[in-house]
Amino acid sequence: MSRIGIIGTGHIAAPIARLMASKGHDIHVTERNTQVSSALQAELGVSVGPPQEVIDASDIVFLCLRPHIAEDVLTPLRFRADQRVVSVMAAVSRSQLVALCAPASDFVQTIPLGFLQTGGCPLAAYGNDRLLAELFEPENPVVKVADETALNAHFAICAMVPGVLDLMATGSKWLSEQTGDMDGAEFYTTQLMSGFLATMQKGHSGQLAAERDALATEGTLSLQMTDTLQSEGAHDALRSALTAIGKRLET
Ligand SMILES: NC(=O)c1ccc[n+]([C@@H]2O[C@H](COP(=O)([O-])OP(=O)(O)OC[C@H]3O[C@@H](n4cnc5c(N)ncnc54)[C@H](OP(=O)(O)O)[C@@H]3O)[C@@H](O)[C@H]2O)c1
Repeated sequence: MSRIGIIGTGHIAAPIARLMASKGHDIHVTERNTQVSSALQAELGVSVGPPQEVIDASDIVFLCLRPHIAEDVLTPLRFRADQRVVSVMAAVSRSQLVALCAPASDFVQTIPLGFLQTGGCPLAAYGNDRLLAELFEPENPVVKVADETALNAHFAICAMVPGVLDLMATGSKWLSEQTGDMDGAEFYTTQLMSGFLATMQKGHSGQLAAERDALATEGTLSLQMTDTLQSEGAHDALRSALTAIGKRLET
């Protein structure tokens, strides 16, 4: 059991706190946002306090602040040399963390999504990946990355999740316009994609293309779909969005 502190108790902090509490850790969170921290206190019995108290009471500190306020919030706080720090903040670099959290020097930067609470969320890890594995595996697999550039590229890929959801929402809406059944359309669309993805083996490069090619054979509706998306620029749009997001994360 570890003493875990969370600085910045918002959208991503809440599922982290719930998962960590379910594993028996002792959780301390900052008061803001009050709605989330008081809900976690009522639900999990976490301690709620000001940032310095949370840090003082913790062996492992999660930094879950919005990037633009990180410097202002963290600068006046005092960390300890023995503390391990997990940052989930996009666009806050390793060198910024080193400066802001000194004398702490054991860092890991990662990208959780809220569904880590129920498992299956891959966690890209730059830094102390063993700490993340200790905390989140086996439910959530840790994927070690070589450097900060690679971490930022994984952040960009995470932005594909809402991108793909948006495309699926368009498909589901189109289906409901044909059937008049919005709930049925959304159920069918989401179940189709999640059911298909669940059958795929993980960790084999080339599998996505192989599954696509197995479906999109000569004369099929599937090939008409993949060809149209290629020729009308969907893939170019995706690449340009990923590149632009990657540039935005460069520090
Ligand atoms: N959301 C995600 O799915 C996700 C996924 C991966 C990474 N991240 C990263 O996680 C970080 C947080 O994102 P989020 O979506 O969880 O944002 P969020 O919901 O806005 O959470 C940030 C929290 O920080 C609190 N805060 C503001 N000023 C503070 C202060 N001085 N002291 C203590 N707490 C303070 C905010 O409280 P108030 O509301 O009262 O201002 C808010 O509860 C970002 O860096 C983001 O890149 C998020």
